[in-house]
Formats: sequence, structure tokens, C-alpha cells
Amino acid sequence: MVTLQNITKTYLSGKIEVPVLKNIDLTVEEGEYLAIMGPSGSGKSTLMNIIGLLDTPTSGTYILDGQSMENRKEKELASIRNSKIGFVFQQFNLMPKETALSNVELPLIYAGVRHGERAKRASEALEQVGLADRLSFKPTQLSGGQQQRVAIARAIVNHPKVLLADEPTGALDTKSGFQIMELFEQLHKDGVTIVMITHEPDIAQCAQRIVSLRDGRIVDLSKGKGSVKEAEKGLDLDAEEKGEMQNE
Ligand SMILES: Nc1ncnc2c1ncn2[C@@H]1O[C@H](COP(=O)(O)OP(=O)(O)OP(=O)(O)O)[C@@H](O)[C@H]1O
Ligand SMILES: [Mg+2]
Repeated sequence: MVTLQNITKTYLSGKIEVPVLKNIDLTVEEGEYLAIMGPSGSGKSTLMNIIGLLDTPTSGTYILDGQSMENRKEKELASIRNSKIGFVFQQFNLMPKETALSNVELPLIYAGVRHGERAKRASEALEQVGLADRLSFKPTQLSGGQQQRVAIARAIVNHPKVLLADEPTGALDTKSGFQIMELFEQLHKDGVTIVMITHEPDIAQCAQRIVSLRDGRIVDLSKGKGSVKEAEKGLDLDAEEKGEMQNE
């Protein structure tokens, strides 16, 4: 679904070249669920922005869904992005004055879907994330976890092939974070390819495979548990161990 071949990204800071991604080779299969980990500044968001066609590499080849993304006009990239990719961010990025329903309708406006159909599809997406009873609520009237679920509904309302999430649980407490992971697991079961950045090892374990970046290079590829239940088990164990230590 996503093939990156020898991808580099170098920013110019004044006259100094700052290499941010160095010779990245990575394939994400159709229907795969991948987590990206790595220290702050290691290039995770830069990599995700390239995969999401929000940024272009300095060199290398990017093949998305069988098509090379090289030498394409911004307009063309935007159209591919709108039809194939959904984004979820740490800070939700919802329109604060609009209802949940209007927020989720936004990508459908861009896609030229007419009014009645828009409302129908947006409410279905909100239902899918468990917010059927919050359609007319504004972001300030929703909890963090609920806001993130609105953002996920917005990301999936166009039925993207790839869901990209940059620290989707970063602003949430542990319980709400794992609820978001349950949603991702369901989307993955429905066939969506997922690439998720996270700092939290327990969250990364929800994915099938974990890529670790350091200094713009892939330094490790490992298997994840690929299940929220299994990932949470590790967490309970930690809590128990901590409890025991406190009791001693
Ligand atoms: N537009 C830019 N111009 C110059 N340098 C940039 C630009 N965007 C990112 N960088 C640099 O690229 C490096 C990687 O940034 P990136 O945002 O990809 O890191 P990250 O792994 O997502 O970090 P974090 O975990 O803190 O979000 C950083 O050193 C950053 O300063
Ligand atoms: Mg980042």
C-alpha cells in the first residue's frame, strides 16, 4: 500500500542543510497496522507527512497504492490525499465553533457530496465511533476522548485506504487512549491500513509491527502484539507490580 524507497528529507536552515530523514526504506502492506516510535526530533512526523502527501521527499521514491507520487502537481496530490488518506492528530484539530456533525461533514464538502447525503454519511461515521448521541455537541462540550473520536469519524467518513495518526492518544488519559486503540483495532479489522506514531510502548503494542526511528534512520523493526487486549495485559501487569512494590 505504501512503499518508500531510499527516501531522504533535508531541510535548509539558512545555508545549512539539516538532514531529517536518511535513506528510509519501508513497506506497509495493504491492511497492515504499523506503529512508528522514536525520540523527539527523530523524524516521525516528517515521515508521516511524506506518507500523507502533506510534504514531499528531497529524494527517493514513494509509491502509494501502486502509483508513484513523483513529479505530481500539488492539486493532484491533494486529490489523492482527499480520496485515499485520513488523518488523526494529537490535538484533534476540530473546528471549535462547529458541531460534531459539521466537523465530520467537512471532508465530504471538499469531496463534493451534496447536503442530505453528507449529513447521512457523517452521522453514520459518528455512530461508528460511538457518538450517535452527540451529533449536535460542539468540541468544548465533549471530553478529550470524545473529541478524538469525532476526529476519527472525520478521518474515516471518506472511507480512506490509509489512516495516519500522529500521537492519537498523546493528549488522553490511559483509559480513553485505549478506547481509541479499540476503535483503531476495529478499523483495522475492517481492512483499513493504519500507520500510527506513538511515544508510548503499550500503545505501540496494539499494532502488528513497530518501526523505530533514530536520527532520521530506521534502527529497528519488531513485531507488536497486534491486539489491544494483549497490549493492555502488559499494562495491568505493570500496575500490579507497582502495587506489590508499594505494599512491600
Ligand atoms: N520545516 C522544517 N524546517 C527545518 N527543520 C525542520 C522542519 N520540520 C522539522 N524539522 C526538523 O526535523 C527534525 C524532525 O522533526 P519531526 O517533527 O519529524 O520529529 P518527531 O520525531 O515527530 O518529533 P516529536 O516526537 O517531538 O513530534 C527536527 O529536528 C526538526 O527540527
Ligand atoms: Mg512529531
